[in-house]
Amino acid sequence: MGWPILSLFGLLIAVLAGLVGGFVGKAIEDNRLLGHSNGAAAGQSQEQACRTNSSSTPTSTSPTAASGTPTASTLIIPTTGCDPPTRQYSFKSFSEQLDMPYTTFCNTDWLSDDLFFAISVGSPSDCIESCAFFNSQATGRRCIGGGFIPEWANQSTAMRDMKMPFNCYMRSNDSTIGRNDRNIEVVSLCLEESCKGVIGT
Ligand SMILES: *[C@@H]1O[C@H](CO)[C@@H](O)[C@H](O)[C@H]1NC(C)=O
Ligand SMILES: *[C@@H]1O[C@H](CO)[C@@H](O)[C@H](O)[C@H]1NC(C)=O
Ligand SMILES: *[C@@H]1O[C@H](CO)[C@@H](O)[C@H](O)[C@H]1NC(C)=O
Repeated sequence: MGWPILSLFGLLIAVLAGLVGGFVGKAIEDNRLLGHSNGAAAGQSQEQACRTNSSSTPTSTSPTAASGTPTASTLIIPTTGCDPPTRQYSFKSFSEQLDMPYTTFCNTDWLSDDLFFAISVGSPSDCIESCAFFNSQATGRRCIGGGFIPEWANQSTAMRDMKMPFNCYMRSNDSTIGRNDRNIEVVSLCLEESCKGVIGT
């Protein structure tokens, strides 16, 4: 009577040991998996930190990086100082770096094709300073100012609307300046005393 029960116990113990062993093994495996996924999460957050660092650098060091091809979040659409942008009026101000006097004609554009040079810039000030620099280097046609389109600081938008990746269109003749006929903001910038007969001068 003793032996069969003993051997039954033995069998039970063996089965239990197998089950426990299986659970322990499973637990170890789960732990490893957890460890793995923890590692992956750590790697991911590190990667994110790197990305944050590299993408925030251009924003903090140079707001004019908009003319390059930075990540989408760093593009800054420049402001013109026209308030409201739909009113046609003018005001004088000084450029940011070279302290040059110029006039901004709000909601005003050049309405014909006397365009001779165009660039992509980060601000109205950049546009007028480039115009003045052009005159200091070039003989022949003289830049008197330019049309500046804030929205086209996004070069994709400029390409879509104008087929050119620029937002500063320099001009040499003010005879065709008139009210902006686009449905986005356009201002005309003129070097001091360069645009005659335009509203507000
Ligand atoms: C991010 O920049 C900060 C400050 O410049 C620096 O302390 C940190 O180590 C940088 N992180 C990475 C992941 O490069
Ligand atoms: C630039 O303009 C395009 C289309 O006009 C738009 O899809 C894209 O999101 C804009 N980029 C930024 C950074 O605003
Ligand atoms: C501007 O253009 C008009 C019309 O084409 C012309 O009569 C005038 O002489 C030009 N002015 C200058 C400064 O070139």
